[in-house]
Amino acid sequence: MEVSTSIGPQFQESTKYYRGRPVAQVPGWAAPPETYKVYESYLERVALPEPQTGGAPLWDAIAERRSQRRFSGESLTLEELSQLVWATQGLTGATGGIELRAAASAGALYPNETYIIAQAVDGVTAGVYHYDIRAHELGMLAEGDYSEDLSQACLEQTWLKRAGAVFVWGAVVARCAWKYQNRAYRYLYLDAGHLGAQLQLAAQALDLGSCNVAAFFDNEVATLVGIDGLTEVAVYLTAVGRV
Ligand SMILES: Cc1cc2nc3c(=O)[nH]c(=O)nc-3n(C[C@H](O)[C@H](O)[C@H](O)COP(=O)(O)O)c2cc1C
Repeated sequence: MEVSTSIGPQFQESTKYYRGRPVAQVPGWAAPPETYKVYESYLERVALPEPQTGGAPLWDAIAERRSQRRFSGESLTLEELSQLVWATQGLTGATGGIELRAAASAGALYPNETYIIAQAVDGVTAGVYHYDIRAHELGMLAEGDYSEDLSQACLEQTWLKRAGAVFVWGAVVARCAWKYQNRAYRYLYLDAGHLGAQLQLAAQALDLGSCNVAAFFDNEVATLVGIDGLTEVAVYLTAVGRV
């Protein structure tokens, strides 16, 4: 079959698994990549309340979920933010020495790091934060109101300015490519899709509005959260706010 020379079909074709073509091989289980990004220091740490389970039925959340872009601008609570981060990347189990998180990830490699642009969250200074998963804390990377920059970086989607918090997922490519080579580029996005979907359901369960965003100037979003856009790429965003 003739494959178009444009990059999309080329990528799809050359990362397919075929019988008779070697599938991605792990270069050595002895040296798996680090699945947590560790910052030497943060400007400030925000401890998140203990996540709660029980409560809102999943079926209602699925039935009622809708993308919301009209936020009231009122603040989220720290408890709500805690639930939201936990519902996507919180630690929920372990097997064979591997820590497992709320959302599924190819090969349990969890390439996506969570950044949060806090715009209106009770008790949280506006700024850019990184989610420290093991500590269940937010670490501040930059202080300030970044709502205008974010909106501009997302193709002038001005509705983003009234969100309480905007989640940005940045994928550490090597973490996934270590096992899957170029096919990893599929998995980064699949993984991020799970994160966005789970975050929307969690937001719905808390009676909050949310909307996923994939229309953005990649390097501008990367710069906003302090990643290089090459070894760690901005893949997806989800805005959450009160409606
Ligand atoms: C991968 C993906 C990217 C999206 N990007 C945007 C976006 O950049 N801006 C936006 O306003 N909505 C965006 N959306 C939301 C879709 O427009 C929305 O999911 C769709 O209209 C269906 O509506 P529903 O989510 O209410 O069911 C995106 C959704 C997905 C799944």
